[in-house]
Amino acid sequence: MKKILVTGGTGYIGSHTVVELRQKGYDVIIVDNLSNSSIEVLDNIAAITGTKPLFEKLDLAEREVTLDFFARHTDIEAVIHFAAYKAVGESVEQPLKYYRNNLFSLINILDGMLENRISNMVFSSSCTVYGQPDELPVTEQAPIKQAMSPYGNTKQISEEILRDTTNVNKNLNAICLRYFNPIGAHESAKIGELPLGVPNNLVPFITQTAIGIRPQLKVFGDDYPTPDGTPIRDYIHVVDLAKAHVVAVDRMLNEKMKKNCEVFNLGTGNGFSVLEVIKSFEKVAGVKLNYKIVDRRPGDITEVWADTSFANRELGWKAEKGLDEMTLSAWKWELALAEKKKNKIR
Ligand code: UFG
Repeated sequence: MKKILVTGGTGYIGSHTVVELRQKGYDVIIVDNLSNSSIEVLDNIAAITGTKPLFEKLDLAEREVTLDFFARHTDIEAVIHFAAYKAVGESVEQPLKYYRNNLFSLINILDGMLENRISNMVFSSSCTVYGQPDELPVTEQAPIKQAMSPYGNTKQISEEILRDTTNVNKNLNAICLRYFNPIGAHESAKIGELPLGVPNNLVPFITQTAIGIRPQLKVFGDDYPTPDGTPIRDYIHVVDLAKAHVVAVDRMLNEKMKKNCEVFNLGTGNGFSVLEVIKSFEKVAGVKLNYKIVDRRPGDITEVWADTSFANRELGWKAEKGLDEMTLSAWKWELALAEKKKNKIR
């Protein structure tokens, strides 16, 4: 069995990817510092796949421990690198925290890979690199815009680090996956998004409001130049996204890459407004959501959705799940969390 290192594998997208990798017969080792995830996720992965993945708790921003990890695990065939801080607002407040963590970890991992002749990395990038694109849908060739936050800048710089490093190390392969807006949860409702504290993102805020953890959802602005005035995003089911990572690993290990550093958009190609997401949620959950329109959130762009034709064609991958399936799975996950909490209290 080929062994894949998944950094950030107890996190939201990481845990779903571990499940898909296991189901395709890959061996997985997870590294995570558990700064934004729980060790219990390993049991939940095991409940879905039948086996608990190998796990090491360590901080990849620490150079010595990271190099030591790679020296002890020379049988790794590919690395999927998710581990990173991701809160846009926090990154504005604490830029050095973001640059230190997100960039040091990437550099340390690449050094560890090069020292031990590990040739393949799949990197978590983001559509944030496009800013507000001039043309929609946005293709991978669209210009990279000035980053709107230190978080976004870490994604841009990371892509540059990968491009420059693969340029001089022809045996090193990188695939950068630019995610649009991942939402939803595994159909088993055993893994999903677990935001620490108040969620920044729309869908966890919706489900937490519906279940009564938050009193009200604030909709940030309805005066955008869109049909209903609220911003438009390309929401993609996290399981569709996870599957794309497995396809990317297959592509690398089967030597199907056209160049040794590739970039793909991962979205559905469809844009939905904030109010459309709320409507979908209300319909599938049968719940009336308490929300109010407030001022715009600084830094939000008006609209973005992906041109997915390159990923569809080259990877032979296509997002399959629609918006209602996404919002319903997110709701089932929130209900499962509430049930778990109730049983703990009892
Ligand atoms: N929104 C609300 N109320 C909330 C939360 C969000 O109205 O409580 C709105 C936002 O204003 C935005 C939409 O819902 O219009 C989506 O917001 P999210 O925070 O869920 O997602 P973003 O598109 O802002 O951010 C996502 C990722 C970031 C990434 C960015 C790139 O979470 O990591 O896409 O565009 F940087």
